[in-house]
Amino acid sequence: MASVTGLEGVVAAETGIGLVDGERGHLVYRGYWAKDLAVSRGFEETAHLLWYGQLPGERELSALKERLAAARVLPIELRRLLDALPAGLPMMGVLQAAAAAFANGAEPPWPPRADQAERMTALVPGVIAYRYRRLQGLEPVEPDAELDHAANYLYMLTGRRPEPDHARALTAYLVLGMEHGMNASTFAGRVALSTQAGLYPAVSAAIGTMGGPLHGGAPSEVIAMLEAIGTPDRAEPWLRDVLERGGRLMGFGHRIYKTVDPRAEALRAVTRGLTGDDPAFALALHVEETATRLLAEYKPGRRLHTNVEFFAAAIMKAIALPTALFTPTFTAARVVGWTAHMLEQAAHNRIFRPQSAYVGNMPSEIAGRIG
Ligand code: CMC
Repeated sequence: MASVTGLEGVVAAETGIGLVDGERGHLVYRGYWAKDLAVSRGFEETAHLLWYGQLPGERELSALKERLAAARVLPIELRRLLDALPAGLPMMGVLQAAAAAFANGAEPPWPPRADQAERMTALVPGVIAYRYRRLQGLEPVEPDAELDHAANYLYMLTGRRPEPDHARALTAYLVLGMEHGMNASTFAGRVALSTQAGLYPAVSAAIGTMGGPLHGGAPSEVIAMLEAIGTPDRAEPWLRDVLERGGRLMGFGHRIYKTVDPRAEALRAVTRGLTGDDPAFALALHVEETATRLLAEYKPGRRLHTNVEFFAAAIMKAIALPTALFTPTFTAARVVGWTAHMLEQAAHNRIFRPQSAYVGNMPSEIAGRIG
């Protein structure tokens, strides 16, 4: 049997939610370019599109906004749980525990419902903000129902209404991060959901899959890389040194994209609008260009380009999000795609149950006869 490591090229499900075309650099959400939605539509409108299959009309949009705003208030049991978790638990672990704790005996786990997807999505930013402020010794900030999803997240983190261009940039990032086909965490979530375990445990499984540096955990490592490089003249020797030692450049390469990740293109433009000629942005552009050239030299034919995480890191830094919140913020976006996939999975559910090819030893009496 051929090697199947990483399930590369394997189609695991049919979906009407998102198309990722890695050769052409296309990312489409239910018939719309994700890059267009990121600049012309809000978080709530795009979430509606992914969950319900179409962009909302005016009334549908205001009803969804109202429901999401009402669901932002953290229940007391959740606050108690967040206060009880060990201070050293990383935020992704906190989110995983919180998602699992949403399941209460009152709601049957099957079938998953769209209102559960909305509730989960509404609460994630508040969980992050509550926990972050508590650990900083600050009072938690209650949500502001007048603010939209992204602005309210920044408000709950800082206690100040955000600059409109910061909220707009975060919205663009959240929209571009919502959905990405059968990525590792979406797959994990669909597998968990397919057992009829329920939407909340399935989201918890997806969160547990999201945190690794090969998936959602890269943005903080991008910042660490840019800080270690420091100035443009140090970029080439620094990057070369990593590649000479067989290391990986964070924010580059992708299993599907063999050209520039369209999310990186869109976020580069948003970051430029936010930071203008800021030296940190100029450094990021220089590192991008140098890394792309060196990757072609060290890894010829692998077609390694900038991925979403590179400029996600730049945006989050520009709006002053703490580095520890980069991957949790990616989670606040991707929860929409996960839950849309779970609802889709439930509509035609069959448990995921692949096989493995056994390459271990056989009992001695049949070894050599069966193989
Ligand atoms: N830097 C240096 N070399 C790389 C990189 C990189 N960023 N990415 C891939 N390669 C090399 C790899 O060493 C291998 O070389 P060789 O053929 O000589 O052994 C070749 O390219 C193929 O790599 P692979 O590991 O088989 O590719 P993959 O499809 O399994 O991995 C990836 C995809 C994203 C895990 C990988 O490109 C990577 O580790 N990138 C850096 C981490 C990163 O930026 N992660 C965020 C991904 S985007 C967010 C998301 O959509 O989840």
